[in-house]
Amino acid sequence: MVASVAGVAAFAFATDLDASGTTRTVVLVLATLVVLGALLTRGSCATCERNPPRPRQTPESVSLQIELDQRPGLEQGDEKLTVTFEDGHRETMRLHEYGRVYAIPGLYEEVVQARLECASPATLAESLTREVVARGEEPQHLRALDLGAGNGVVAEELRDRGVTAQLVGLDSEPEAGPAARRDRPGLYAEYLTGTLEDVAVGPLVERQQLNCLIGAGALGLGHISTKDFASAWDAFPKGAWLAVTFPDSVLSRDGDDLSAYISALRRSEHGSEVTHLSRFRHRLRMNGQPIFYYVMVARRTH
Ligand SMILES: C[S@@+](CC[C@H](N)C(=O)[O-])C[C@H]1O[C@@H](n2cnc3c(N)ncnc32)[C@H](O)[C@@H]1O
Repeated sequence: MVASVAGVAAFAFATDLDASGTTRTVVLVLATLVVLGALLTRGSCATCERNPPRPRQTPESVSLQIELDQRPGLEQGDEKLTVTFEDGHRETMRLHEYGRVYAIPGLYEEVVQARLECASPATLAESLTREVVARGEEPQHLRALDLGAGNGVVAEELRDRGVTAQLVGLDSEPEAGPAARRDRPGLYAEYLTGTLEDVAVGPLVERQQLNCLIGAGALGLGHISTKDFASAWDAFPKGAWLAVTFPDSVLSRDGDDLSAYISALRRSEHGSEVTHLSRFRHRLRMNGQPIFYYVMVARRTH
């Protein structure tokens, strides 16, 4: 604003017939630069208003020191991290104590996304939107229920790939919904705290016109039960999309209910057609060893 006024004033001076030719030229060049600057600044502010920058909190911005437990042989659920706060107090927590992790702004992103290079959210979002586009549909029409939504990393990956409709989030940790609102405001139309047992999925699908069920890292390892997951998927209409990631061991073991359910989906049972299944590096263990998962995309056929 100030720059615009200064620019306009300078233009007025530059075109003032009483000023000398050289003075007018110098002032005109300066005025042009000032006005251009003002216009550029105004342009970026207008963009900011339409797409407010998401607050990116990093442990540096909250002055944390983080140590990862690098002992070999730890199961995923046993891996721990220690956070040292600015005032010197320390907290040790398991990575799977998600509520404690989400409660500290930037901690999930620094540990899971940055240091452990978690690829599940991006891989799920990429695989799903690629399948949708390959079948002549548009990602912007996806309306997803995000199981084990955490603080919204998957929703952000989907938004970056053209899924413009707000999602519905579900997570059993009470800290997750507030963390999603804090870290990625505006991505969820509704965020429910609880498990699938607490939710009437059919009415939710109808009310929010949902046509997509997703879950990154939310199946297996004692997270969402297969029974609840299967009945949630049954509540989706014909043509709906499903996209999940799960540990690779699920496909190589027998007798486990998640393995049996995924195998049945692959045989086109439960009214579903699997359109994509691939193995990828989900993340690193704290000791640097890779953990592999599968991403599966399916469609409800009836
Ligand atoms: C590995 S984290 C993944 C978070 C998020 N999807 C992401 O990729 O960033 C798994 C999430 O599932 C949630 N969770 C675990 N069991 C659950 C259940 N039975 N019902 C709902 N959420 C659950 C956890 O609280 C956690 O936020």
